[in-house]
Amino acid sequence: MKKHIFSVLFLGLTLGSVSAQTTIQLSSDQSAVKISKHVYGHFAEHLGRCVYDGFYVGEANTTIPHTNGVRNDVIAALKELEIPNLRWPGGCFADTYHWKDGIGPKENRPSIVNNWWGGVTEDNSFGTHDFLNMCELLGTEPYLAGNVGSGEVQELADWVQYVNFQGRSPMSDLRRENGREKPWNVKFWGVGNEAWGCGGNMTAEYYTDIYRKYATFMSDWTNTGGLYRIASGANSADYHWTETLMKNLPKSLVKGVALHHYAVIDWSKKGASVEYTDDQYFQTMKSAWFMNELVEKHSAIMDKYDPKKEVALVVDEWGGWYEVEPGTNPGFLYQQNTMRDAMIAGMTLNIFNNHAERVRMANLAQTINVLQAVILTKGEKMIKTPTFHVMEMYKVHQDATLIPLTLASKQWEKNGESIPAVSASASKSKDGKVHLSIVNIDPTAKQDITVNLGQTYKNVSGRILTTKKLRDFNDFDANNRIVPKAFEDAKLKKDLVQLTLPPFSVVVLELN
Ligand code: AHR
Repeated sequence: MKKHIFSVLFLGLTLGSVSAQTTIQLSSDQSAVKISKHVYGHFAEHLGRCVYDGFYVGEANTTIPHTNGVRNDVIAALKELEIPNLRWPGGCFADTYHWKDGIGPKENRPSIVNNWWGGVTEDNSFGTHDFLNMCELLGTEPYLAGNVGSGEVQELADWVQYVNFQGRSPMSDLRRENGREKPWNVKFWGVGNEAWGCGGNMTAEYYTDIYRKYATFMSDWTNTGGLYRIASGANSADYHWTETLMKNLPKSLVKGVALHHYAVIDWSKKGASVEYTDDQYFQTMKSAWFMNELVEKHSAIMDKYDPKKEVALVVDEWGGWYEVEPGTNPGFLYQQNTMRDAMIAGMTLNIFNNHAERVRMANLAQTINVLQAVILTKGEKMIKTPTFHVMEMYKVHQDATLIPLTLASKQWEKNGESIPAVSASASKSKDGKVHLSIVNIDPTAKQDITVNLGQTYKNVSGRILTTKKLRDFNDFDANNRIVPKAFEDAKLKKDLVQLTLPPFSVVVLELN
């Protein structure tokens, strides 16, 4: 606290006439903390049009250019984001999914009903080989979510053997019969999903015991360098869940404990994705900012049982959740994506970066056509949402070294409540460049910001994402309404940068 006051005073004295509303002080101490690239992960559930008619258009009867049924435009867009990992097949769907239904000749695969999402028929035409081969095309690491809720221990153990075992075994022989010689070496495994809800309505105590059993039989094949087993985590502020897991799970069996939190106004009145009111915008951002408290409180519990931070906090579902677009299937969770979503993305990624020591993996929900998607598709058309552009601007932080910072932000006030208007995070990449991402969520006020960089730099450049109206979005006939543009307004003087952020904008600066 003392250090914080000192830095603000120091800035005031140094700058003389400058009346910055917000000050940011970058630490000049070398940090050893890396922002894991896996914080920039994505999620693809068998839900609505995420997998079918999103990623996968099938190999026959389509005029959409594809590779093994996966849209080429989607592959190119996700490569641009350099997505580090992709979670599949759920979500709630994971605890109803029997992986053996999705292997072998497609015409022989059984159809099932997708009970959680719209009650539609799932023909299992996109299964284990389709997903893992797609991950190879995307250059991303798969994160498989195992069925604990309605599956069997042996079934999950078999899945691990099927995808990972190199030698002769019943499951690796079956994989070969289905056309794949080499194992895929899948490292990331979720042991169930939302065990407190759609994954089985379990208590934390019961799930902990179940986890120990399932994890034990998921054999640790040497070719992955050790399985990275992730326990189904808390629903938002359920601290008892994290405490129970951390107290009772042996470290040899768990590498990550999950957390799910959606930016939602009210689960019974979620509001529209585009025509939201000013109050709804504030309430969404308040719920998004709550992530900061969640990460800190869950981390504090983890610190008690794991002071060396061996177990990661894995936020494997996050993002904004609104009412579906009018006229679409309520079970498909299709929503548009405005600058509000860019604000959620920029702020949340800043929170994750700043807590990189504990938050080492995260997955935005979901990649295509579902919830806070980075991509929307309609027939042959594909658009990149404002969230896509934030992810693309922030990719410079992947695997970079965190630069801790102190931030004194002006508050954004609404109806007697307030949250910080500005959030920021900074990192240094391997090539020595420093990147600073700053978000102003205030819908009407610009922010004058002074950054003390902690050392002298020669050059600054940057990009900005903003638009005319907060509720603007990219649409199928206006694909480039919101795209990043060069930001020329940052003034560098030795170790100080001054800039003004327009309302609802995201800026990423590069310094060298
Ligand atoms: O992402 C949509 C759903 O939200 C997931 O299936 C579930 O895990 C969560 O409740």
